[in-house]
Amino acid sequence: MIKPLIAPSLLAADFANLQRDLDLINRSEADYLHFDVMDGVFVPNISFGFPLLKAVHEHCKKPLDVHLMITDPDRYLEAFAEGGASTIHAHYEACPHLHRTLSRIRELGCRAGVALNPHTPVSGLVDVLEQIDVILIMSVNPGFGGQAFIPHTIQKIAGLKQFLQTNQCPALIEVDGGVSLSNAQSLLNAGADMLVAGSSVFNAPDPLVAITQLKNSHLPLMA
Ligand code: DX5
Ligand code: ZN
Repeated sequence: MIKPLIAPSLLAADFANLQRDLDLINRSEADYLHFDVMDGVFVPNISFGFPLLKAVHEHCKKPLDVHLMITDPDRYLEAFAEGGASTIHAHYEACPHLHRTLSRIRELGCRAGVALNPHTPVSGLVDVLEQIDVILIMSVNPGFGGQAFIPHTIQKIAGLKQFLQTNQCPALIEVDGGVSLSNAQSLLNAGADMLVAGSSVFNAPDPLVAITQLKNSHLPLMA
């Protein structure tokens, strides 16, 4: 099994020590930095937006994995691409014209991601598989960090993996919410390629070690 891609979530960083936390991410084995944008409408919380994206883009050496938990994401795709996003995830539930949204993200030079809430079946993606680079499976209801992982996600990912194989779709599977060392291996066994982790990284005694451990979570645990 190959090593998973790891994306620590900025939402759990210490904003009063942002440069310190970004330096830590730069020195770590993280592959991306996950950047959660919440508008207080699509989700019941407001996080951060363009000014922070600019600062993070200037200081962070890792590509930015931007997760838009906002209504009408089409309005802002260009601004996020210009702001330094490497991947842009729009929510399936927020996109009446998903084919257009995903195509636009690619046109802007970014990887096109679609995020699915826990209740959204993967089957709805069947007609846009060619437009997707990565599928972000929410393993919590989006809006807050530090929530409990929804166990059904494991089955959902296994089903998605099979669905992608049946349709010969090379899209990656990314998981977001409540991810930690305790469920990482099950997620990878089910078919996940990329793990987002907020609190399990930044609340760990040593976040650098926590990232390395997640990066190696495909390996059997030593007794
Ligand atoms: C939740 C966000 C997540 C969040 C994950 O709505 O999309 O990216 O930062 O945080 P943890 O890992 O603490 O669940
Ligand atoms: Zn997220």
